[in-house]
Amino acid sequence: MATIVGGIATTHVPSIGKAIAEKKHKDPYWQPFFKGFDYVHYWLARTKPDIAVVFYNDHGLNFFLDKLPTFAVGAANEYRSEDEGWGIPVSRPIAGDAALSWHVINSLVADEFDVTMCQDMLIDHAVTIPMALIWPGPVWPIKIVPIEINTVQHPLPSLARCLKLGRAVGRAIDSYAPDSRIVIIGTGGLSHQLDGTRAGFINKEFDALCLDKIVAEPDALARISIHDLVQQSGAQGVEFLNWMAMRGAMTGRVSELHRNYHIPISNTAAATVVYGNEPKMRREAA
Ligand code: DHB
Ligand code: FE
Repeated sequence: MATIVGGIATTHVPSIGKAIAEKKHKDPYWQPFFKGFDYVHYWLARTKPDIAVVFYNDHGLNFFLDKLPTFAVGAANEYRSEDEGWGIPVSRPIAGDAALSWHVINSLVADEFDVTMCQDMLIDHAVTIPMALIWPGPVWPIKIVPIEINTVQHPLPSLARCLKLGRAVGRAIDSYAPDSRIVIIGTGGLSHQLDGTRAGFINKEFDALCLDKIVAEPDALARISIHDLVQQSGAQGVEFLNWMAMRGAMTGRVSELHRNYHIPISNTAAATVVYGNEPKMRREAA
């Protein structure tokens, strides 16, 4: 059976790719951010997941404003990236797990989430930057199932809807027969706004509220409207929707194992967290 070993969420600011390429990990600007990954690497060495289900938002590389699914699931055995114009190296391809993708898609549609299924899908910095941060070695010891959430063009799905999507993905994984160890990843956020009169907007207090409540009280956060989320976290801070889906997919007893919060990385309040997920069946058997 599949086991959900836990969750990781982190920002995906593109300039991190440049800092990695230029080995700036110890540079005073970058060090407080990169040191937040020491625990992530330690935890992964112990938990050894073999598949990552990644909730992220595409920024215009694969989907654009002409056709933008609210929710899309990758169903490929490999995902390539391309130059998005940020001046960072293009990522090497990432292996996909199409078998788990199809299981998740079948289960989601049966569960009334009518997702777009993508057998050919480019992944952008919202997947490649977190991958490079989480698994910094020359080879990725993991396959992915990427799940895209629209955070770009309104109307956006609500926090409540993304929490429910995550829960449906969690149920799908819990019913997946092949032995596999699965980590759930959410990317983006926390508060940031890249354009308009509020460009540079960051909201430390709201970020702290989100980080404090997401583990034990996700349903309280789910009551926040999209309008209020934009106001409180910035136009791009709505990437927190990916975090909510990640939280929803953890179906066991969830605990915070690690939190790093650092302002700013580029225009963004950068947060990195690790959550443990103790599966329900294991608890009942104990
Ligand atoms: C930045 C943040 C993002 O989430 C993104 O997708 C692109 C840029 C930034 O802060 O520079
Ligand atoms: Fe982004």
